[in-house]
Amino acid sequence: MSRAIPKKNRLAVRAEKKDANAALKKVVSLGVFDRSRKVIKRQSHVEIPVLKSVFGYELVMQEEPAFYRRVPDLSHALQGKIPMICIPLLPRGWFILGEVIVVKIHPDLTPYEHHIGQALLDFYPRCCTVLADEGIFGPFREPMRRAIAGSRTRTVHKENKVIFNLDASLVMFSPGNLKERIRMSRIGEGEHVVDMFAGIGYFTLPMAVHSRPRKITAIELNPNAYHYLCQNIRQNRVEEIVEPVLGNCATVIQEGVADRVVMGMVQVTDRYLQKGISALKPGGILHYHQTVPSWRYPEAAISDVTKAAAALGCRAEVLNCVRVKKYSPGVVHAVIDARIDRDFLAEDFI
Ligand SMILES: C[S@@+](CC[C@H](N)C(=O)[O-])C[C@H]1O[C@@H](n2cnc3c(N)ncnc32)[C@H](O)[C@@H]1O
Repeated sequence: MSRAIPKKNRLAVRAEKKDANAALKKVVSLGVFDRSRKVIKRQSHVEIPVLKSVFGYELVMQEEPAFYRRVPDLSHALQGKIPMICIPLLPRGWFILGEVIVVKIHPDLTPYEHHIGQALLDFYPRCCTVLADEGIFGPFREPMRRAIAGSRTRTVHKENKVIFNLDASLVMFSPGNLKERIRMSRIGEGEHVVDMFAGIGYFTLPMAVHSRPRKITAIELNPNAYHYLCQNIRQNRVEEIVEPVLGNCATVIQEGVADRVVMGMVQVTDRYLQKGISALKPGGILHYHQTVPSWRYPEAAISDVTKAAAALGCRAEVLNCVRVKKYSPGVVHAVIDARIDRDFLAEDFI
């Protein structure tokens, strides 16, 4: 295999694991990092792909370089089918949920969107439908999407050994939250968890499948999302762990029952904070999601939690702040992990 790949695509700096970060910084700062290839971890060292040699570092010729998969280029596929002036407006990215491709289309491209849809289906023969995405709206966080190629919108998305049945035209699924879904799949063992905004089971299912909590109470208000939540609980065989509840978490949540509360909603989550905190047992852990201006990350989100806790006579100890993704220009989706305890200090002063 290595013989077929040109030498210039196999050059790499070899660094001991302990020096890897410094070497990577150096390579990037010199502008010689080869972004088409992945950094490879070997047993005792790493190989950092480079475009040319770097003074002071050992250079190796990789036997099996690992390339990033290239996103197919729509401009080639659509040449002659849409006016040249529209080519720069073509989407450069999209995401795939099961067999459905979701793509944002520039308004000036609307007359040609069926060509775009067909070209995407040609790129991904296992997909059956392309949906044009116009955003997520309302308290149920519902997507506004229309089919521009194909018509089947129900699909099965598999990720991290979890099965998500969904209708991509009716319920949201955020690919940008993948790391957070994986993080949630590693916690909660043996606990009682309350997922206040369960959706189709974004966090509930990875946690139930991998960490096996004693119980997850998964609350969801939107009947469409609830329908898929129930189907997904059955398909992932976690009926004995997950109890789905159709309703408003503000009214159905119980006080003092949970070891852990997940608040996987953004924008309005602060309105539900006191309910989430009250659901915890003393010493329980809260995962508070919120969108905050990037220049106020993480303080703005931390302050929401500490203020809500104080209002209930509790103390919030921040354990972790996670920057999940860029939400919109200048805004980040953040998660604050906090342990909530009775505020003994306040009690002492009473
Ligand atoms: C933003 S979605 C969850 C997205 C998820 N964090 C992800 O990874 O994609 C939030 C869900 O909470 C539900 N929801 C909104 N308000 C609610 C409430 N008061 N009680 C229960 N569920 C609610 C919405 O219907 C939606 O399905």
